Amino acid sequence: MLLLQIPLAFYMVDQPIGPDKFSNYATHKSLGLLLFTVTALRVAWRLTHPAPPLPVAIARWQRVIARVTQVLLYVLMLLMPLTGLLRSQAANFPVSFFGLFTVPTLVGVNEEFSKGMSAAHEMQGSVLLVLISAHALAALHHHFFRRDDVLRSMLPGAGRRGQS
Ligand code: HEM
Repeated sequence: MLLLQIPLAFYMVDQPIGPDKFSNYATHKSLGLLLFTVTALRVAWRLTHPAPPLPVAIARWQRVIARVTQVLLYVLMLLMPLTGLLRSQAANFPVSFFGLFTVPTLVGVNEEFSKGMSAAHEMQGSVLLVLISAHALAALHHHFFRRDDVLRSMLPGAGRRGQS
C-alpha cells in the first residue's frame, strides 16, 4: 500500500487542478487512513509477537541501526496519516474514507496550522522514502552478499517456517 501511496502523492501534487487531481487526493487520503489502521494493528501484533531473531553473526551496531530504522518506519507510518488528516481538516477540507463516511473533525479551521502540518507531512514523506530505501537495500544486502536468512525472515510465513 505504501508503494502505491507515495508515488500517487508525488504525482497528484503536480497535477493541474481538475477532477483527476481531486479524485487522486481523495484516494490518497482514504488509502492513508487505511494504512494508519493496518499499521496500528501491525504494531499491536508486533508488541505481542516479537520479530524473528537476527542471525548471531550480526554486529551490535548493525542491530541497533536495524531497530532504530524499524521503529522510525512504524512511527512515520502512524504519524503521516495524522499530519495529513490535520492538514486537510485545518484547511477546511472534510476527509472522507472511500466515500463511506466523513472522518470526525479533530481540529478547527486554521490556515497557519494547516501550512505547518503540510510542511511536516512533506518532510516526513522524504524521511520515510529514505528509510524505506535503506531498509530494502539492507535486506537485499543480507540476501545477496551476506547470504543469511534476514530477508527470508521478513517475508510472510517466516515464523511458521522457523529460523536458522
Ligand atoms: C501513511 C500515509 C501517508 C503517506 C505515506 C503520505 C505521503 C505523502 C507524500 C509523500 C506527499 C507528497 C508531499 C509533497 O510533495 O507535498 C503527500 C501529500 C499530501 N498528503 Fe499524504 N500521506 C499519507 C497519508 C495522508 C492522509 C491520511 C491525508 C489526509 C487525510 C493526506 C493528505 C495529503 C495532502 C493533502 C497532500 C498534498 C500536499 C499538501 O498540501 O500538504 N496524506 N502525502
